[in-house]
Amino acid sequence: MKILGIETSCDETAAAVVEDGRWLRSNVIASQFHLHAQHGGVVPEVAARHHLEVILQVIDEALLDAKTSWSELAAAAVTAGPGLAGPLLVGVNTAKALAYAHDVALLGVNHLEAHLYANWLEVDGREYVIPELPALGLIVSGGHTDLILMRGHGDYERIGRTRDDAAGEAFDKAARMLGLGFPGGPAIERTARDASSASGDVKPSLRLPRAWLKGTDDFSFSGLKTAVLHTVRGETGPPPPSEEIAAAFQTSVVDVLTKKTVEAAVREGVRSILLSGGVAANTPLRETLVARSPLPVHAPPPVLCTDNGAMIAACAHYRFEALAAGPDLDPQPGMKFAHV
Ligand code: KG4
Ligand code: ZN
Repeated sequence: MKILGIETSCDETAAAVVEDGRWLRSNVIASQFHLHAQHGGVVPEVAARHHLEVILQVIDEALLDAKTSWSELAAAAVTAGPGLAGPLLVGVNTAKALAYAHDVALLGVNHLEAHLYANWLEVDGREYVIPELPALGLIVSGGHTDLILMRGHGDYERIGRTRDDAAGEAFDKAARMLGLGFPGGPAIERTARDASSASGDVKPSLRLPRAWLKGTDDFSFSGLKTAVLHTVRGETGPPPPSEEIAAAFQTSVVDVLTKKTVEAAVREGVRSILLSGGVAANTPLRETLVARSPLPVHAPPPVLCTDNGAMIAACAHYRFEALAAGPDLDPQPGMKFAHV
């Protein structure tokens, strides 16, 4: 069964064809970051207009790459939320029109649930291992930082979340303070790598704070963000080079995310950990989580961590009946998937 997945919730216009929830037949991603870089963040109206300009071409390319015609598709699955209203509207309306015109099923997918399902995709050159359930998912993206207990397909409980900034948002804001550009995650990672190759490790004097929020599975990154600001401004002493601040910031985020995730996973008695969302592309995060976890850790390759259509199609495969939608499918910018 082949499903077309369409994603437009933020600043990537993406479409992919996935067979049986596993095989990636195509994966087309048109990123708009160059349009938003000058503003240091995503401008919703600009994003929506650009999605509209390229979406049909992106979908055509995904079908062409997959050598798949509409008649071979079981469904068109689209991100219904959460995300930016204008960008979501473009994807949902396009999917609706195409599904109706080609007489295929329409499925409305939750973007965060789909991030978890990137872990069900087969990746070239890696042994294919289906994640064992129950699992604990750490979703770390630009807008969310959630710990999700996944008992089965469609059976979720959110046990932890950020109380202020999302991890990706913290990376983006810290990068902005350091003048490193947008998106901040990859920029911080690159810059921090320069620091460690130059000086070995982060200097102990440059240890930035960690918010443990003991007794909860919640996170908080706003204190760390403020500490970066004070450091950059030289309020805590002569400002260190940006590479060292970037490295200290990343080490702090990685330390908290990995320790709290492993602790919760062990306590809940899950069988695996699912790392997902854009920040999951971060190499130190991936490596530290693997090193600290006594359980198998699944993490998609970086290109499937950031927003893509393949994860939408994979999620739709496993949740086909539950996600079936009709012509009344509307974008839901605040869509939830795990009961709190
Ligand atoms: O999942 P995603 O592509 O979009 C949302 O659903 O938000 O996540 C985007 C976020 C951005 O904040 C970006 O800075 C961050 O993921 N990110 C990274 C890396 N690559 C992307 N953060 C840290 N390290 C990376 N290599
Ligand atoms: Zn995302």
